[in-house]
Amino acid sequence: MAVDAFVRINGELHAEGVRLTEIAEAVGTPVFVYSRNHFVDRYQQMEQALNGLDHRICYAVKANSNLGVLRCFQELGAGFDIVSGGELQRVLAAGGAAENVVFSGVGKSEADIDFALKLGVGCFNVESASELERLIRRARLLGVVAAVSLRVNPNVDPGTHPYISTGLKQNKFGIPAAAARQVYRRAANAPELRIVGVDCHIGSQISRMEPYLDALDRLLELIDDLNEDGIEIEHIDLGGGMGVTYTDETPFNMAAYGAALSRRLGNRHETVVLEPGRFLVANGGILLTRVEYLKPGFDASYLNFAIVDAAMNDLIRPALYQAQHPVQSVLESQAEVQLWDIVGPVCESGDFLAKERSLALEENALLAIGAAGAYGMVQSSNYNSRGRAAEVLVDGKSFTVVRVRETVRDQLRLELPRE
Ligand code: LLP
Repeated sequence: MAVDAFVRINGELHAEGVRLTEIAEAVGTPVFVYSRNHFVDRYQQMEQALNGLDHRICYAVKANSNLGVLRCFQELGAGFDIVSGGELQRVLAAGGAAENVVFSGVGKSEADIDFALKLGVGCFNVESASELERLIRRARLLGVVAAVSLRVNPNVDPGTHPYISTGLKQNKFGIPAAAARQVYRRAANAPELRIVGVDCHIGSQISRMEPYLDALDRLLELIDDLNEDGIEIEHIDLGGGMGVTYTDETPFNMAAYGAALSRRLGNRHETVVLEPGRFLVANGGILLTRVEYLKPGFDASYLNFAIVDAAMNDLIRPALYQAQHPVQSVLESQAEVQLWDIVGPVCESGDFLAKERSLALEENALLAIGAAGAYGMVQSSNYNSRGRAAEVLVDGKSFTVVRVRETVRDQLRLELPRE
């Protein structure tokens, strides 16, 4: 059963059983608020969809890397998909094990490779012939064997925003399917490596499963070739990218995808690995912000501005990807409904969280910017020397601050000169 993470009870928006007003009073704004039970529910939906298959869900840490969130997925039994040594440290800090980690990324540094090799990560998803050579050198030096998969670029169009398409030939990611066989041969001849898988990741916020099935066909053709070369594959990793609803998008049909994968892979021996980020966390988070000022438009033909205390440094998605996040008032208001641009205090006209929204607003009102659980806090910055927001994890009727608000002192700590 789907859990409604953010519900209106007696006219007031809640996160599960907690009033958002209470969180704003206790922690201040802006604050990201997450619903633990939404994360659990989404994870279980995915588990259920993949029920008929030998599978592993590796949560993509980049979507939301807060320790409280990682701990939640760790407790659910997830593995993790990481792209840096920093993310690996977070997984360990949250109680995860390196062997349950797949390490993706197009530019893995020597230091990150060494760190991951020493800890024994479950699989390096290698993205180029050069990276493979570096991995061989580092593994030889450290006297360990690296488990590898090659990330194949299947050249399929995922039908999403160009900045988050990754499986097309013009994208920097992966090894062209045609070249992969040769690179696998090289890997098979290196005693420093153990080939465990084949993988791809074609993009993010994808709403149809067909591009995945096309990519899978390319991977299966490659696996046939590899088997001919005497190379055995233990897992097929189809990446993440399953889309969610922000406003009116068709949500990705996970149950149908699971069924389609079962039809194609049910009688094979390989384990299926998925690397979902957004699907698990996006709709389980909001950015809670307070209206500082209401500012009427230039004249009647212009929009009104609601200047809030969150900004593009907290949630850059609207500015960067033209993303449309839903906006709701936490309390109902008797004010006249008008069209508003919801903008932040940052000195840029690109600093908006939403445009042309019909809302009844008052100064000091609390607003919830929806679907902010993925790629919100993780993409935040200190632009305009703004401290990053706090984060709160709600579970039923209680909540925990899982990251305190950043202070100016935190920001200045690494800089010189100092008084
Ligand atoms: N695996 C790999 C190798 C990835 O690069 C990504 C995301 C994922 C898994 C997880 O994808 P998801 O299931 O979350 O779609 N900042 C952008 C999204 C960038 C996605 C980057 N890679 C946004 O805010 O829309």
